[in-house]
Amino acid sequence: MLAGRHILLIIGGGIAAYKALDLIRRLRDAGAEVTPVMTRAAAEFVTPLSVGALAGREVITELFDLSQEAKMGHIELSRAADLIVVAPATANLMAKMAAGLADDMASTLLLATDKRVLLAPAMNVRMWGHPATRRNREVLEGDGILFVGPDEGPMACGEFGPGRLAEVPAIVAAVGAALADGPLKGRHVLVTSGPTHEPIDPVRYIANRSSGAQGAAIADALAGLGAEVTFITGPAEVPPPGGVKVVRVETAAQMLAAAEAALPADAAICAAAVADWRVAEASGQKMKKEAGGLPDLRLVENPDILARLSTPGPQRPRLVVGFAAETERVAEHAAAKRQRKVCDWILANDVSPGTGIMGGTENAVTLITAEGAEDWPRMSKRQVAQRLAMKLAEALATGSGASGGSI
Ligand code: CTP
Repeated sequence: MLAGRHILLIIGGGIAAYKALDLIRRLRDAGAEVTPVMTRAAAEFVTPLSVGALAGREVITELFDLSQEAKMGHIELSRAADLIVVAPATANLMAKMAAGLADDMASTLLLATDKRVLLAPAMNVRMWGHPATRRNREVLEGDGILFVGPDEGPMACGEFGPGRLAEVPAIVAAVGAALADGPLKGRHVLVTSGPTHEPIDPVRYIANRSSGAQGAAIADALAGLGAEVTFITGPAEVPPPGGVKVVRVETAAQMLAAAEAALPADAAICAAAVADWRVAEASGQKMKKEAGGLPDLRLVENPDILARLSTPGPQRPRLVVGFAAETERVAEHAAAKRQRKVCDWILANDVSPGTGIMGGTENAVTLITAEGAEDWPRMSKRQVAQRLAMKLAEALATGSGASGGSI
C-alpha cells in the first residue's frame, strides 16, 4: 500500500518512543522507505542503533553533524520525503512547531519542509489537557498539520486518560490516507460534521444528540481515496479521523465561516446536524433564577450552510451533498429539500424511532439526485461513507450528477 513512498519519521523523546520501532517495521512491511530522525531526548529512550537497524539506514540525529550534512542537507532531506511523520510527537515538539522554532534537527526539518506533516502525539494526560498544548494543537491544525490520536487509556506514568500514542496500525492507516493515490487524489473536499452548540449564556447552550459518527466516517473514507479533506466539526462525541485537516467550531455561524474560508473545494458534504436556531441575544452573564419569572428566549434562524455552499457562483464546489433526516415520505420530502437548497445530492434517512438509526451504528439511506431516487440497503455508517465516497469520486471524474461549476 505504501510501495515506493518515502517517509521521514521524526521520533520525539517520550516513553512511547519504543513504539516507533514497531512503526518503522510496519511501514516497511507496507512497502515504504523510512528515514528516521531522532531528537536528542529520543535517544534517551531508544538507541539510534536499534532504530537504524530496523529502518535499514543511518539515523539522522543532529543538525550540525557535518558528515551527514555533507551527504544530504537538511533542506533537501525535508523535501525528499513524500510525508513527514512525527511519532511520538511530544508536547515540546508541538510547542516548537506551533511557535516556528528551529533549534535542532527535528524542528528545523519541520520548519523547512513543503510536504504534509502527520503528528501522532503521546504525552501525559495533564500535558495533553494543558491549555498551552490545546492552544498549540489548534494552531497546528490551522496550519494544516494532520493528526492521528492520541488515544485514551492507561499510561506508562500510571495515569489514565487521553495522551497514549495511537495504535501502530492506526498510524500506518493515517499514513496511507495522507499518501493515498486513490481516485480522489488532488481533490479537495470539505465535510461538516457533528452538532453545533448555540450559547444561551456563558454556561448554557442549545444542542442536539448528533454523535458525528457519519461525518467522521465520510471524512475517513474520502481521505482513504486520496482526497485532501477539510473536516469542520462541532463538539462531537466521535473523534475526527486521522489524516484530515480538522477545524473545530462551536456554533453554526462559526461553521459557516470555516466552510467559506476552506473554499475553493471540489466537493462539499454537509453531514453536520446544525442547530436550526440560536438565541438572538445570548446573555454575557450567567442568567439568574431570581431575576424574575422564566427567561424569555427569542430565537432567530441560523444561516443554512448547505444552502449557502450550494448558491451558484465562482466559489461553488462542483458537487454539494446534504443530508435529510425524515420520519415520513422520506424520498418525497428529501427531493423537495434538494430543490429548495439547490444542492446536487441529498442522502435521506428514515429516522423514525423504530429504525434505530439515530445514535446507532447503521444507516439506511436513499440517494436523491437530479436523476431520481436510489435506495441503498441497510448497512453500517462506515459502508455508507465508503459508497458515498466512491460515488463522489466517480461523479467528479465523469462530471455526472453535479450541477455546479464547470462540469
Ligand atoms: N444544514 C446546514 N445548515 C443549517 C441547517 C442544515 O448546513 N443551518 C444541512 C445539514 O448539514 C444537512 C441538511 O442541511 O445536510 C439538513 O437540512 P435541514 O433543513 O436541517 O433538514 P432536516 O434536519 O432534515 O430538518 P427539517 O426537515 O426540519 O428541515
